[in-house]
Amino acid sequence: MPLVPPYIASLRPYEAGRSAEEVKREHGLASVVKLASNENPLGPSPRAVAALCKASSELNLYPNGGLDLRRVLAAAFDLKVENVIAGSGSEGIMSTIIRAFLCDEDEVLTTEAAFIGFQVLARSRGVKYRTVPYRDWHYDLPALAAGINENTKIIYLANPNNPTGTIFTRHEFDDFYRHVPERVLIILDEAYFEYAKDNPRYPDSMHYRYDNVITLRTFSKVYGLAGARIGYGFAHEELIANLLKVKLPFEPSTTAQAAGIAALGDKEFLHRSLELNVRGLRFLTSALRESGYTVVPSDANFVMLVLHDAGEAAGLFERLLASGVIVRPLASFGLPQCLRVSTGTDEQNRRCVEAFAAARSV
Ligand SMILES: Cc1ncc(COP(=O)(O)O)c(C=O)c1O
Repeated sequence: MPLVPPYIASLRPYEAGRSAEEVKREHGLASVVKLASNENPLGPSPRAVAALCKASSELNLYPNGGLDLRRVLAAAFDLKVENVIAGSGSEGIMSTIIRAFLCDEDEVLTTEAAFIGFQVLARSRGVKYRTVPYRDWHYDLPALAAGINENTKIIYLANPNNPTGTIFTRHEFDDFYRHVPERVLIILDEAYFEYAKDNPRYPDSMHYRYDNVITLRTFSKVYGLAGARIGYGFAHEELIANLLKVKLPFEPSTTAQAAGIAALGDKEFLHRSLELNVRGLRFLTSALRESGYTVVPSDANFVMLVLHDAGEAAGLFERLLASGVIVRPLASFGLPQCLRVSTGTDEQNRRCVEAFAAARSV
């Protein structure tokens, strides 16, 4: 028996995109625009930063497992504390779900090229990981429903989806849900919920609190707290109770929890972030299309571009880097012919579009 199980040995560690500093150094550039990780270009909410600094005076004490944040979220969403979990980012909670619910013979079902964080976590459990292709860059929910078998334990759906930026509608989800047995857990990953919630076709999962659905959300995106590692989830109390048995008892950290609570209260920052994103999405989509690129319509804080093939995408990525614009290649997701571009400040978006136009004419 090898020391490392084959399903771990075959994994590749998560590759963080290249940092702005690295790219500056490599290409001798004075400034670099990084639009690669769907981060908030406005920085963190100032109120969250103040709360985080204040909470740091108590770093000698162990955290309370996210209880304060759970209470705040329960009050805000009219739930019981028992329906809420908080963790080290939504990925931290995904990891807990995988540990709590998957047995060796279980299967995971999702779309092709799903969010890389989920892919890695699920594959690292060594269970069968099954996917169905996209339909026009959207989840093919009827095909997913048809793909459920007696071993399916978890279905993972991100809405909006990363990396395509597309959504499925309430109507589509209702149709799908009818085909899902109660023994199957649906993870509804709503990391980009805030960006999509004003789209009338978008299904806010708070409106269908089924017993086998867990909603995951995060402070990493619109709240600008990706570095703090704080996320949360809503589900039936029995589901949450089992997750709490497995969760690392001291996540999230004291400072992350304090930042999350304060960020929830900073409506002005939220509003400003969303406004900037709406402008950015419109601009990136239309300007990149005008330059001849295929851009998938997005409801998140990024757009996906579809090139002819992997070679074209890789060449374009390198030319953009050389001109000081970092975007996200999607080969590790399973889409080597695509690139993902996050929205930035107005100035960053302009620079990005100029770089794409120049890279096209090379
Ligand atoms: C769909 C999706 N889910 C979850 C995450 C991870 O969020 P967190 O930082 O809360 O772990 C991301 C981050 O990019 C994401 O795109």
